[in-house]
Amino acid sequence: MRSFVSMKNMEKDAILNLLHTVQLIKTKNYQPNYKGQDLFVANLFFEPSTRTKMSFEVAEKRLGFHVLDFEVNTSSVTKGESIYDTAKTYQAIGANLIVVRHQEEHTARKLSETLDIPVINAGDGCGEHPTQCLLDLYTMYESFDSFNDLNVLIVGDILHSRVARSNAYALKTLGANVFLSSKASWQDDRLDFPYIDLDEGLKICDVAMFLRVQRERHEEKEVGDDVDYLKQYGLTTERYQLLKDEAIVMHPAPVNRGVEIEDELVEAPKSKIFRQMENGVYARMAILDLLLSKGEINNGYPIEERLLRAK
Ligand code: CP
Repeated sequence: MRSFVSMKNMEKDAILNLLHTVQLIKTKNYQPNYKGQDLFVANLFFEPSTRTKMSFEVAEKRLGFHVLDFEVNTSSVTKGESIYDTAKTYQAIGANLIVVRHQEEHTARKLSETLDIPVINAGDGCGEHPTQCLLDLYTMYESFDSFNDLNVLIVGDILHSRVARSNAYALKTLGANVFLSSKASWQDDRLDFPYIDLDEGLKICDVAMFLRVQRERHEEKEVGDDVDYLKQYGLTTERYQLLKDEAIVMHPAPVNRGVEIEDELVEAPKSKIFRQMENGVYARMAILDLLLSKGEINNGYPIEERLLRAK
């Protein structure tokens, strides 16, 4: 794999391989380290981010890379420089890999087709968010060990959610059953999965994934009344009782507390929301390692051995 920009056409073995690497890194059975190799990673975030940007930075520092930061407002983007020229400049001055978040769909893919260095998609508009997907998949894997016939319910602002898209594609590849629940105006024809009633879905699901209301991507401000949204489409205490004993609740965050999920439930026993954030560092370490190790033996363990040690 040269770049990591989409989950859509990623093969099952490639996803499982990455998940095993995440597990090895988290359990400290594999600790890749690039210190001394003088490799530079650039984090080009054109949209706001807390989790993704900071967990990439932690992952990069743990792996021993030099981190090149970027601030849109103090960069030459303010003088009209394009995303392409910005990325090409980072490549020219020595970046060995670029992480990019941008408001336009396909930005990372287009850069990956033109640059000579690997590109990681850290979220592209309403397109995809594959590193979020990997940490979400790993969080599910920690709870259930398998994706076969896992019932995953994705709830909320599907139309504007790159998280929903990446997860739906990957979960289908892995053999899970994906269900969507959303108000009519936020349903997305591009995703060929059944829409079901929220309460019915909560009764049968193993994973209930609530999505952030993506207000910044709405042409018209649709959510006038947050309390009303919570009652109709959010996780309330009453709905929490519908969940199976072993079911888990997820959300990519940031959470609009009291809108998608009742405030007290964000840290309820079934919630894995802060676990997702923790796993984000390991997931991003695994992806960076995959792209920069060039498939070579790293830190003494060939990939076959890494897989064996993950079992
Ligand atoms: N989940 C997520 O992408 O969060 P940030 O926007 O804070 O990176």
